[in-house]
Parts: sequence; structure tokens; C-alpha cells
Amino acid sequence: MNIQKVTVIGAGQMGSGIAQVAAGAGLDVKLHDIEEEYVQKGLQRIGKNLARQVEKGRLTEEEKEGVLGRIQGTNRLQEAAREADIVVEAVVENLHVKTELFRQLDPLCPDHAILASNTSSLPITEIAAVTQRPERVIGMHFMNPVPVMKLVEVIRGLATGEEVYRTVDELARRMGKSPVEVNDYPGFVSNRILMPMINEAIYTVYEGVAEPEAVDQVMKLGMNHPMGPITLADFIGLDTCLYIMETLYEGFGDPKYRPCPLLRKYVKAGWLGRKTGRGFYNYER
Ligand code: NAI
Repeated sequence: MNIQKVTVIGAGQMGSGIAQVAAGAGLDVKLHDIEEEYVQKGLQRIGKNLARQVEKGRLTEEEKEGVLGRIQGTNRLQEAAREADIVVEAVVENLHVKTELFRQLDPLCPDHAILASNTSSLPITEIAAVTQRPERVIGMHFMNPVPVMKLVEVIRGLATGEEVYRTVDELARRMGKSPVEVNDYPGFVSNRILMPMINEAIYTVYEGVAEPEAVDQVMKLGMNHPMGPITLADFIGLDTCLYIMETLYEGFGDPKYRPCPLLRKYVKAGWLGRKTGRGFYNYER
């Protein structure tokens, strides 16, 4: 199946990155969010990213304009969905929000369209089940920041069709990424391994074993991680980290996945990490 028109739903950190990379690969992109203000923010983020690439000499001004010209923003779901060959959903990590969205998208998209979710941990099979096309629903899990990170986890739901899998694998390659096939279990592979480590790092802070800076130093200098787990949690978004831990906890029913109370407290305070200017570290100037 030939993909030319890509619709990205959710213009946050991931959605804007996915839109940028798709347009960079020559695809026509529609970028949707609930409010026009969020759409504009997403487009601005893409503009800034591309301008940085021009400054570094990795992109010409014309190429930048070409990429931007291939992205159209909208806050109307019907317009976003109408001509899509594939929809990549990147809204908040909440099963109810995602299933509601897929329920709405299904009748709005052309019959041939693939519905993909960028979810970090939620069951693709359950999201697919609310649509009339479960065989055309799949997980396409990009990493943050999307323009930089090579991996895309391609997640087969229980009903995902073979042709759909192959199309998405090929699309990821076209976008300059390296797809890896995984099956549909909570957290897939990436976050089943990463998130318990981040949660444990937050426990060490919670229990007073060490300050966030010290935890990050241990993992950077001692384990050769390029970024400490607490910094990474702030970067991912503490709300997203909490949602993922809850999905693992619920999905496996194993107490080893219980989210750290300190993580919960920060999320309740609205300290979500870099995106809100404050998390375990302070990013306000
Ligand atoms: P974000 O909070 O930066 O962006 C989410 C966007 O979705 C917001 O702009 C919000 O207005 C919009 N939104 C919410 N409900 C919507 C709806 N019904 N229709 C349209 N737009 C809606 O979150 P982020 O970090 O971009 O995460 C998005 C998804 O990507 C989540 O499922 C997350 O688990 C996943 N993900 C996140 C990664 C990360 O490092 N932050 C890495 C890989 C995947």
C-alpha cells in the first residue's frame, strides 16, 4: 500500500516531531490538535527545530520551507481525517481519551486508512476493538525527540493484518527510522524495561537515598547512560511516566510496577517536567 497522506493527531512534543519527520520524508501531513492555539504551538516548534538545522548547515532554507509547506495544521478532526492514508495518533497517554478518539476517527477516515497509535504502553488490541477495522490498527511508537531517535517500535495488535504491518514497517524506514517488531503487551519492550528503572530512580529520591543530581550522576558516570533517569523522566513528561507505570501495574497485576508516590505527587502538583518548566529539576528562568 502506498502512503502519501499522513495525519498526525496531537501537536505536542511527539506529534510535532512525527509531523516534521513525515514531511521531511516528502509526505503530505495534516497536524491536528483540539485547540488552534496548540496547533500553532506545534507548528512553531517544528519551525524552530528546522531553523536550528539550517543554522547547523544540515538543511537549506529552501528545504526548510519545503518541509513546512507540506504540513497543514487544523483543529477540525473531520478535515484532518478525510483524506488520510494513515493516521498517527499522539494524544495524551490515557486509554479512555485514545479509545474515544479512535471511535470518532474510524467513520471519518477513508476505508483504506491505517490507524496507528504512538502510545508508549497502552494495549493496541483494546484501542483497535472500538473500531470497525481492527485489522488496520497498529502501534507505531516513536522515541523522543522524534527527529533524532532512530527507533520505532511497530506493535502488532491481536488483529493487525500482515499488509498493514508491512506498510508501517516500510513507512518507518521511509522516515529514516529503524523499525523493530514487537507484540502487544503492556509497555511493549521499550517502556517495560525503561520505566521501572525510572520509577526505581524516583524511589531512591523518595526514600532519601540520594538527591536527583546524584542519582543521575551515578547512572551517567557509572553505567554510561547518556542522560540520567531523573533528567530523562522530566524530559519524557512526569504525567506520561505515571500513566505508563499505571498501565504496567494494572496490565500485569504485579506490585513490582507500583508507581512511586513521589511521582504521583509531582503530577498532582502540575510539575510535569520540562514541558511545564518544573519537574524534578527547575527549567524556569
Ligand atoms: P504532550 O502532552 O506533549 O502532547 C499531547 C497533545 O495531545 C497536546 O497538545 C494535547 O492538546 C493533545 N490532545 C489531547 N487530547 C486530544 C484529542 N482528543 N484530540 C487531539 N489532540 C489532543 O504529550 P507527548 O509527550 O507528545 O505524548 C503523546 C503520546 O506520545 C502519548 O501517548 C505518549 O505516551 C507518547 N510518547 C511520548 C514520549 C515522550 O517521551 N514524551 C515518547 C514516545 C511516545
